[in-house]
Order: sequence, then structure tokens, then C-alpha cells
Amino acid sequence: MLDHLTVVKHPLVQHKLTIMRDKETSTAGFRQLLREISLLLAYEVTRELDMTEKTIETPMQTMQAPTLDGKKLALISILRAGNGLLDGILELIPSARVGFVGLYRDEETLEPVEYYFKVPEDLGDRLVIAVDPMLATGNSSVAAIDKLKEAGAKNIRFLCLLAAPEGIKRMEEAHPDVPIVTAAVDEKLNEHGYIVPGLGDAGDRMFGTK
Ligand code: URA
Repeated sequence: MLDHLTVVKHPLVQHKLTIMRDKETSTAGFRQLLREISLLLAYEVTRELDMTEKTIETPMQTMQAPTLDGKKLALISILRAGNGLLDGILELIPSARVGFVGLYRDEETLEPVEYYFKVPEDLGDRLVIAVDPMLATGNSSVAAIDKLKEAGAKNIRFLCLLAAPEGIKRMEEAHPDVPIVTAAVDEKLNEHGYIVPGLGDAGDRMFGTK
């Protein structure tokens, strides 16, 4: 079992994250770094996948060699910023099924409202990795995971780039069975719900919008 919270302190992850945080980093640079960092985070979030062995012939002899046990994966991107993490992870796990959850925040109730939900049918048979770069208030992440559980998901991990203590607490309370993997835990949220020091709006930084 992964710990409830894993902070990936690998030097390459931390170095790339620092460049991503820098407001002078271009959209192209940000996107490229997100792709690279997502490969390294994917390595961590898949650390404890079940293994089995199979018989192969090397040029020298027969051997029993370790291989993934074929347990199926589903990667779920929480729109829109989740797509930036998704692309890199798919390079590492090209056979994973992919789903999308779109939520927006109702400006009056401040509650997340679903506008898109398309996930693989057999979620209950898969290890589900939900991805969203920023775990801020946790409201949309919790709502997305609620929806995934309603759709049958039983074994879920949550992968993000940056987390705020408030979001981690909210996730731990709502979904204590969902391990979180992140590159860093920042100081706090500001009054607008942004992570500080953070990196700004991840979607805007990766897509060049404002
Ligand atoms: N979403 C972002 O993109 N950035 C934050 O700081 C918080 C939520």
C-alpha cells in the first residue's frame, strides 16, 4: 500500500518544479517541464503495482522474469489542467484506458458542478489514477473522486504536482482510502483559493491563457 501522502523529493522533480514555479518560464517551457515531471511522478504513483513472473528466453538461457501482473489501469484527467499530467503519464503507460471528469465551480454556491464525465466502463476492475496538477481547496478533487466511486471505482490514487495543506486535509477526511502523490506541499491557500507560493493557475500556465 502507498502511504496516504507521498511527497516526491527526487532532485530532478524538485529542480523542474522550481523552474515551473518561476513566473518568467514560458508556456512552452512550462508544458515541456510538466510532461517531464509527470513521467517521474508516474514512476512513484505506480511504485507498488502487482508483479508476477513469466518464462522468457534470453539469448543465453531460459529465465523466470518479473512482469506487471496485467492489472488494468485507468488514468482519469480532471479537466482541464489534468490533461497536462495525463500526456506524460500516457507515454510511460501507453496501454492505460483514459477518462475525463469536468467540473466547474458554481459562483453562488461555490460547489463543484459536473459538466463532463466519460470514463472506462469497468472502473471497478482497474487501478484508477486521478490526475490534477493542483490540490488546492480539495473541493473539485473530492467531487471528482465521489463521481469515480459512484461509477464503480474501488482502488483509486490521486496524483498532483502541488498540494495545499487544506486540500490534503479535505481529501483525507472525504477519501481516506485514496493515497495522494505530489511533488510538494506548499504553505497555504490565499483568499482566492490559490496555492501560495504555488505556480499560479496551472491551466493558464500550460495553455497560455489568462
Ligand atoms: N488551481 C490552480 O491552477 N492554481 C492554484 O493555485 C489553485 C488551483
